Amino acid sequence: MADHGDDEDTLATPVIVDTGQFGTTDRDKAPLIQMHSLWKTYGMGASTVQALQEVDLTITAGEYVAIMGQSGSGKSTLMHILGCLDVPSSGRFLLDGHNVQDLDDTELAAIRNERIGFVFQQFHLLTRLSARRNVELPLGYAGVTSKRERSDRAMSALDAVGLADRADHRPSELSGGQQQRVAIARALVTEPAIILADEPTGNLSREQSTEVLALLDALWAGGRTVILITHDPGVAAHAGRQVRVQDGRVIGEGAAE
Ligand SMILES: Nc1ncnc2c1ncn2[C@@H]1O[C@H](COP(=O)(O)OP(=O)(O)O)[C@@H](O)[C@H]1O
Ligand SMILES: [Mg+2]
Repeated sequence: MADHGDDEDTLATPVIVDTGQFGTTDRDKAPLIQMHSLWKTYGMGASTVQALQEVDLTITAGEYVAIMGQSGSGKSTLMHILGCLDVPSSGRFLLDGHNVQDLDDTELAAIRNERIGFVFQQFHLLTRLSARRNVELPLGYAGVTSKRERSDRAMSALDAVGLADRADHRPSELSGGQQQRVAIARALVTEPAIILADEPTGNLSREQSTEVLALLDALWAGGRTVILITHDPGVAAHAGRQVRVQDGRVIGEGAAE
């Protein structure tokens, strides 16, 4: 684990590691993500919720996909499965051809750490750490032992989101838009192939949203697969492809009519 010593917050955000052999330019290959007849059930008995039902979804490396749907439609459940944070109740989920259900927790964590950068609505920054130290965290988890290297890489990630000059600020000293940009820097510092963003603009003003979406657009243009989860058609329009979900089912593709 990282030696982030004095912080007592728990890191709700999954952490990301160097993509190594996978790189970020593996477009035009076999589907990155294949879901076949996926179901997710929460609870038991009378309180059972079918959060996902018969979901079929294929995403190719390099796509920019928006998963769209109203609150409660199953978007976050789908994101958790896509991000290997949770497993489906039934059906098949292949990531890079690996059947995720066959992997144990350690293997799941490794895939998650190597391949995926997460961005959440609530930012999930550690309040007691500076922006730079927040961005360094995933590198610690990835086993980058050199302090100097962690610091340099965090600074370049912060530079990429336009916040190098705020590196020493804590989250409370930053605007919501800036906090989300720090979270994006943290997601990209290990160069994951996939960026999974769940309502990344949900807590932001219009202007801040524009900046955050421009960054996601740039990450996609740089070769990453971007999966953007949103209830907002204007946000979804940034993606080249929109997948609509309702009541746990994929009901169609394309912008909402
Ligand atoms: N941990 C959970 N336990 C029980 N029900 C859940 C849990 N997480 C989500 N749900 C239910 O599953 C459905 C889909 O939720 P969610 O995936 O969060 O939707 P969205 O992100 O689109 O708002 C909702 O009915 C929600 O109440
Ligand atoms: Mg949600």
